[in-house]
Parts: sequence; structure tokens; C-alpha cells
Amino acid sequence: MEEKELWINGKWVDTKDSYTLTSPFSGEVIAKVARASIQDVEHAVEGAHKAFLSFKKTTAYERAEILYKVVEIMRGRKNEFARILALEAGKPLSAGLQEIDRTIATYQFSAEAAKQSMGETVPLDAAPGTKDRIGYTKRVPIGVVSAITPFNFPFNLVAHKLGPAFAVGNTVVLKPATQTPLSSLILAEIFKEAGLPDGALQIVTGSGSELSDTLVTHPLVKKVTFTGSGAVGLKIKEKVGLRKITLELGSNAAVIVEPSTPIDKIITRCVGGAFGFAGQVCISLQRVYVHESIYDEFTKAFVEETKKLVVGDPLDLSTDVSAMINPNEVKRIKQWIEEAIEQGAVIATGAEFTDRILTPTVMTNVKPEMKIVCQETFAPIVSLVPYKNLDEAISLVNASELGLNAGIYTNVLTDAMKAADEIEAGAVVINDIPTFRVDNMPYGGVKNSGYGREGIKYAIEEMTDLKFITIKTTI
Ligand code: SIN
Repeated sequence: MEEKELWINGKWVDTKDSYTLTSPFSGEVIAKVARASIQDVEHAVEGAHKAFLSFKKTTAYERAEILYKVVEIMRGRKNEFARILALEAGKPLSAGLQEIDRTIATYQFSAEAAKQSMGETVPLDAAPGTKDRIGYTKRVPIGVVSAITPFNFPFNLVAHKLGPAFAVGNTVVLKPATQTPLSSLILAEIFKEAGLPDGALQIVTGSGSELSDTLVTHPLVKKVTFTGSGAVGLKIKEKVGLRKITLELGSNAAVIVEPSTPIDKIITRCVGGAFGFAGQVCISLQRVYVHESIYDEFTKAFVEETKKLVVGDPLDLSTDVSAMINPNEVKRIKQWIEEAIEQGAVIATGAEFTDRILTPTVMTNVKPEMKIVCQETFAPIVSLVPYKNLDEAISLVNASELGLNAGIYTNVLTDAMKAADEIEAGAVVINDIPTFRVDNMPYGGVKNSGYGREGIKYAIEEMTDLKFITIKTTI
């Protein structure tokens, strides 16, 4: 069995404690993984701080070269990495390959961002009595970033933290999700080969609130960036004090389908958005509001398309939907579905369970207060709901504590713009599903879906301090 250690100061470090990693699909043991102690985390943070003192002095050119090299290495190892995703996350190979392509793009955007202008001149002569003065801003690295990442995009959501941090000269202590450490640990050798100095990337694995508390409260940590559940995000936010923090949390993403929409052109896309990686995506399509005039036609087509999805082994290239991340998650969503049925919801297709898999499930006759509607399901389940007019649809979308991405299909410009203005979300996607992200766009939620934005340029703003410099040109 593979044994995995911590990566600290450019070396593999053994620990007293470890845990067994099993495959979400087969339940087979994949690896024995080190469990970091509080002392290990402290050691990692101190090493990252020491590395920062010299890494912050590197040039933009040097940092971009490291990131370009990472891009080159990853391009040559795509299949190997997609296989890791299938094994440790249960992500179907086809989706895994897409994630690796996105990861490469994220590091490429980061390399390019390292070289972009990050400041502006300020016209100091705009106020009286300020003649002969020049002022300009620059973005300066802040130091050690603690990055805590989720299981659902173990390569790309890590890249969204490492890429911008290294682009500007910060160093990182990375704590990947307990279920998906392998895709992070492999980065140790990639970044080393790419020339990243020892200590600039520290990887600590394990679990437990003491470990994460140390990561987010150590005095040498200057920024915390977390992607994961709202409950954990809130606890972290309460602990970080005056440190900078970015939180990417969940949502129950919705799309509105207006009567002008050609249903045959959007069904495959909508089904893909609802069931990709078994719905374990923060912007997975969870609620579909369809105008009542096309609701029956839409529902029939959606259910037919859902039934075509191949459920099975993530290592099989033809698989669309595989296991959920662990059996407890299957139990949770089973309870939510049973509760909704007791309250009147109807299963249009799916809702077949094993202890690891939920088949793609379409629900109708749902009510806004049901958990499968108003909370984040993070499972392969979607609700279809008819509406009478656009105002009603927008208010149904907004009747939620969450707001990451939302979508609307319409060919009426004024309706599209009304939705763009009135929907409460971090992003409104017109003529596509909310399960849409290009890795350089600003990404983050309103309400309980998050705090701050990712997307390289935006993450850089959150990982740097703005410094102002002024010069008096005469004495
Ligand atoms: C997420 O689940 O938060 C990330 C979604 C994505 O990057 O596509």
C-alpha cells in the first residue's frame, strides 16, 4: 500500500499518526496518509514564513517561469492525474480530464497574472496645495497563506489558491480535503521540479478542528482561503480575527427557462449541469424554474435525457455519474428525499440507492421550504418547478440564503437584463446554466455563499496588500 507523508520544507516528513484512504466507488484501500499534529502544522507555517522572506524578493519573471513550468509538466501527465481523481474522489475519468485541462489553464492564467500591472498612479495634484507630488500604488505580497481545499475539484480548486499566491510572491500551507490528499501531494514533486523554493509550498494532511484552528490562527498566517461548506466557513471566519479571508461556500444554483427557449437545444446542457460529478459541485444545477407553458414538454425531455446517463465505475471512460464521496453523504441525501416525499414531492426518475451511489434523480411537485430545494444538496438531484411569470421566477430564485451563480434562458433582452439586475447572486449567466465557470472570471457568492472572490486577478487582490508610495519632486 502506498504510504504518504507530509511535505514540509522541501522534504517528506513522517508522522506518528496516519489514516487509511479508501476509494469512494469500490471501498478499496488506496493509501495510508499521514495525519499532521499541531506541531507539524506549526513547523510548516514557520517554514513557509522563512521561505516567504526570500520568495517575496523574486522577480515577476522568475515566479511566472515557475508557473509556466508547472503548466508544461501537467500537460504531459494528464491521464495519470485524471486517474488519481477517479480513485480518490470517484470523479469519472471524462470529468477528471476536463478538470486537469482547467487546472492547466488556471496555472497558465496565474503565470500571466504575475507579469500584469498591479498598480496605478494617483493624481495628487487634484487637491489644492499638492503641487510637485507623484503618487502610485503597488500590490505587495502578504506572507503565509493558509489554503484549505475541498474534495470536489482537488486539482483545480487547489490551483485557484496556489496559482495567485505564488504569482505575487506569497507562500502557502495547503491542507487538502481528507478524502483527496493524493492530488495535492503529487504537486509537491511538480512544484519542486518547476523550481519553487523549499518551504514555499507546505502540504499538511489530516483532519480535525485543532489542526484547522492552528492553520487559521497561527500568528505567522496572514491570509486564509477556504473552499467548503458554509458551516465550516462560518467557524473559520469567527476565528481569523483581522487576517484577510476568502470563503467559497455552497449554493443551490437555479436556472430560469423562459417560454422563448428552444428546449431541444438546452436539455443536454441542463442535465449535464445537474449531474456532473454526481452534483457535488457548488454551482451544480439544483433548481430549474420552467415557464408553465413549456413545463410539461421540458420535464418529459429532461427525464428522458437523465435516463440516458451511464452510472458506474469512475475509471470507465463512458461513465457519467459515479459514487458520492462517502456513504454518510448517501444516507443524508436519502433522508432529505424521504422527507420531501412525505411533504408531497414526486420522483420523476432516479432515487435508487446503493450504499455508495444515488442514481440521477429528478423531483417535481417540490415546495420552496423543502431541504432538497432551499439547502445545498451536493448530490445528483434536481427539482423542476413551473412558474407563471418572470417576477415570480426571480423571487423563487431569490428565496434562498445562498447565491453563487444563477442562470436564465431567454431571447428577450429586457427580460435578460431584468434578471441580471434583480437576481441575488455572485454571477448571472444569461442563456446558459449556472454551472458555468471559466477560471479567469470573478467567482464567489453573495448571502451565505461566500466572502470575497476567486479568479486569478480577483484572488490576487485578496492575497496582497495595497501599498501607496508618494514622492515630493522638489524640496
Ligand atoms: C466549486 O464547486 O466551487 C467549483 C466549481 C467550478 O470551479 O467549476
